[in-house]
Formats: sequence, structure tokens, C-alpha cells
Amino acid sequence: MRSKVSSMTDELNRARECGRRTARQIAESAKQTEHRPKFHLASPAGWINDPNGFSFFGGEFHLFFQHHPYSAQWGPMHWGHAVTRDFVRWQDRKTALAPDTISDRDGCFSGTAIDDGGTHLIAYTGVSKSGGEEVQQQCLASGDGETYAKRAENPVITAADVPFPFQKNHFRDPKIWKEGGAYFLAAVLRKTDGRGALALFSSENLRAWKFVSVMDESTGASGMWECPDFFRLDGTDVIIVSPQEMKADEARGFHDGNNSVYMTGTLSRTSFRFARDIRTENGFTAAQIDGGIDFYAPQTALSPDGRRIMIAWMQSWESPVTPENLLWSGMMTFPRELRIRDGRLFQFPAREIERYRTNPRHGTLSFSGGGRTEQSLGAVSGRHLDIELDITPPPGKTGSISFHIAKDGGSYAELKYDAAHGTLFFDRSRTLAPGAISFRRMNVSPCKTDGILRLRLLLDTSSLEAFANGGEAAFTNVFFMPPRAKGIFVCADAGFSLEYSCFGIEA
Ligand code: FRU
Repeated sequence: MRSKVSSMTDELNRARECGRRTARQIAESAKQTEHRPKFHLASPAGWINDPNGFSFFGGEFHLFFQHHPYSAQWGPMHWGHAVTRDFVRWQDRKTALAPDTISDRDGCFSGTAIDDGGTHLIAYTGVSKSGGEEVQQQCLASGDGETYAKRAENPVITAADVPFPFQKNHFRDPKIWKEGGAYFLAAVLRKTDGRGALALFSSENLRAWKFVSVMDESTGASGMWECPDFFRLDGTDVIIVSPQEMKADEARGFHDGNNSVYMTGTLSRTSFRFARDIRTENGFTAAQIDGGIDFYAPQTALSPDGRRIMIAWMQSWESPVTPENLLWSGMMTFPRELRIRDGRLFQFPAREIERYRTNPRHGTLSFSGGGRTEQSLGAVSGRHLDIELDITPPPGKTGSISFHIAKDGGSYAELKYDAAHGTLFFDRSRTLAPGAISFRRMNVSPCKTDGILRLRLLLDTSSLEAFANGGEAAFTNVFFMPPRAKGIFVCADAGFSLEYSCFGIEA
């Protein structure tokens, strides 16, 4: 028999009521809604960070998220909840988990969910402090897609289950899956030397768990790992993690601080160690998933038609740019379909977005004459656009081409392709709140056979997601501009030419 404990509903009710009240305040104020996206999931009220429990259950995709309903800043974590059928329209559901039991009274941290034979099973991290010391332990909850109950045995995995010393305040973000009739749960932890590792446990009955292996661990290129995912795609095993304290390494494509990386390889079903492949893109065993400033803690779900769909928090810990007066903070990326081709991760916007395209416009621009000139992108303007660009650089790949997005006088967000250096560059220094980090650069190159750089841009009020060369690289950045800033201009050196297809998105 499954044992359950109901949440201390006072705490949960208080969170739900506060969320509802704040959401109403947001809806009633133009100042609160003007920066909100149309076709991305944004915080309903208060703060959100990591996506949690992304899964298909009961005919819908469920997305939970780290949530603090009481303010637009991070605080004791709850699990917010939303559902979608097409990744464009999201429906808010009641807050699913509140920090209301002994094992999670200081926070319900990140985790994942599966459809366990008709029960929506959640694995999350319970955070509790005693005597000033914080402990993180793994907990379970189950529900019907609407309401969730925590299990009476929580925490089900504690430090005592790990057969080596590690830092007990860094043991979190369980990824749960089922294989061969057993449950597996992989959680990240920080070893005593500071390196991150992925510890694997298994269980027959969800109550008794045993340590299986250290699936993988940091080679020393990073500190703690966060938010693991593990899945099989196109014939290979894939691990996703978000490592902290990485040092910038431009050649390998990493930036300082928090990164989100993927590794392909094979999980041995005898030793349960993951043997990593050497990556073709950077000669290392891990590569960046998205080169932009605002992409963290991605996780994936399997759709009924077999697609592996990824979503991430579209913000960074290092450089939040949300304007201070807002009662909400945080958005998610547009869900992306993943494929592995020639050993590399490809990602592109879930195809459902194409059903919302309106007002198609196609055209070409060419830049001739001496020096740098500016043109408008045909008659295209606005803040809710899906744009496809085929960029041909001058022979010898010299100069650069810039897209000035959300332009209003001298203010705009800039996306630049520098052909001479083979980089894509984002600059938000001329927007409302540039943040501590206002630039980011990522290596890209045009297609070797025809010399064209292909970009797909999703612009949704306050975010720009760029996908290069059919999804070979992604570049996600957030910026804030007043709603009147709708201009889209192209500024390029002589010799560049451009073909575009542009669609409005009517969600
Ligand atoms: C990653 C993270 C997770 C943790 C959660 C807390 O962004 O630090 O490791 O579970 O956020 O909100």
C-alpha cells in the first residue's frame, strides 16, 4: 500500500492565496504586464527559477518550477505548476508543493517527475536546517495532475545512504526514471574537495533505496553540479548538468560561473558508470548547450510522439535584468526539440509554434557601397516574431552584420554576426536594465558547403532566442525595453546580403 501524508495545507493555501492575489494585481496593471511574453511561460506571480518535473501526464505536458510566491526575489522554495498541450499556451495550476513538512520546511528544491502507471510521481529535494546547519535530502510526492501529497517516509534518501563523505548541504535535484521494473534516482552532490558528482540510487518499491554508483563526476573543470537529466536519444545516452564555478574557456565555449552542458556516452548497466565521448565541437567531454547569458537548469520530457523536448530557466543567477518594480520575475525558454546528429546536440523550437505564425513576409537585403549602412528589415517590426535569416558574408568573410532589435531611437538590443571572427555577439548595454553582464559571445560558422549562416530568431517581448544552422547552436538572451520599442534594423558592412522570412506570432 502506498503511504502518503497530506501537506500542511495552511502553508500551501497561504502560498496559493498570495499567488492568486499577486497575479490579479499584475493582470490589472499595464506597467506589470508590458514586459510579459506572449508565447513563453513566465512567472504567474513572484519569483520563479528552474523548471521542475517536466513530464507528459494525463494528456498534458506538466511543468513545475521553483517558485517563491511572496516576492519577486528568491525565497523558501515552493513548486509552482502549469500545463500545456502545445508549448505555446500555458494554463496555470495551483501551487503543488510548499515547504511544510519536517524534511522540507526550508524549501522544496528542484526535481523531476514521471508517469508511474497512472500516478504522477515527483522526486524533489527537501531542505531543512537544524542547529544552523542546512541539510538537503531526497523526497517523493505523488498526485493526479492537480494535487500532490508528500510521502510519509520522506526523506527517502539521506546522507546516510551515500557511502563516502560529501557536503550535506549540497545534495539535490533528483532525476527519477524507471528501467527494467526498478526505479532509479540520480542526484547531484558536492564532494569534500568541492567537485560535483552524480550519485545513482535504485529502489524496487520507492521506500528502500540503495546506493548504486557515482554515475559521473566533475573532471575538475567545475565545482558543484546542479539539475541533472539523463536520457537516451538517437542511439546514445545523454547526461545534462548545470555546473557551477566554471572558468571561462572561449575555445571550448564555456563562460565564467554557471554553465549548462551535455555529455554523450554510454551508461554501463553493470558498473553504472557513464563513459563519456570526446566531443567533436571542442575536443572536450562536455559542451555548452546554449551560449547565451540567460539559459540555466534545462530539463527534458518525452512527448507521446517520441520527441525529446527541453525547457530551461531563461535567466541567469549572475546577471538578472528584471526591472525592480515588477511583482513577477522569471521566464522559461520556448520548449525545444532535441536531436543528436553526428554525436552533436541539435535543438530547435518545438514545431507547435509554427501553427501560430501569421502575416508572412519574405525579402532580400544587400549591402553595397563603401562602409557600413543601415536598412530596415523590410516592413518588419514588433516584439512577437519568428524570423528566419540566411546571411551571406562577403567573400573572404570580412566585416559584420548587426540586427538592432526592439529599436527605439538610440536604444536597442543588438545581435551581431562577426564574419571575420566567426562569432555571434549579443549586447544589451543599450536596453533598460543591462545587468552586470551585458555582452555574450559564441562561436558560429556558416555552412561549409554554401557559405551561408542560417539563423532562426524567436523574439517574444523581452527575450531573443537564436538558433544557428538548423539548431547546431543556440544563443538565448533576455533584455527589457519599453513596449513602444518595435523597430528591427539591419546594419552591415558592404558585401553582406540577406534573405529573410518573417512571421508574426499570434498566441
Ligand atoms: C539551480 C538551483 C538548484 C536548486 C534550486 C533552488 O538553479 O540552485 O540546484 O535545487 O536552484 O531554487
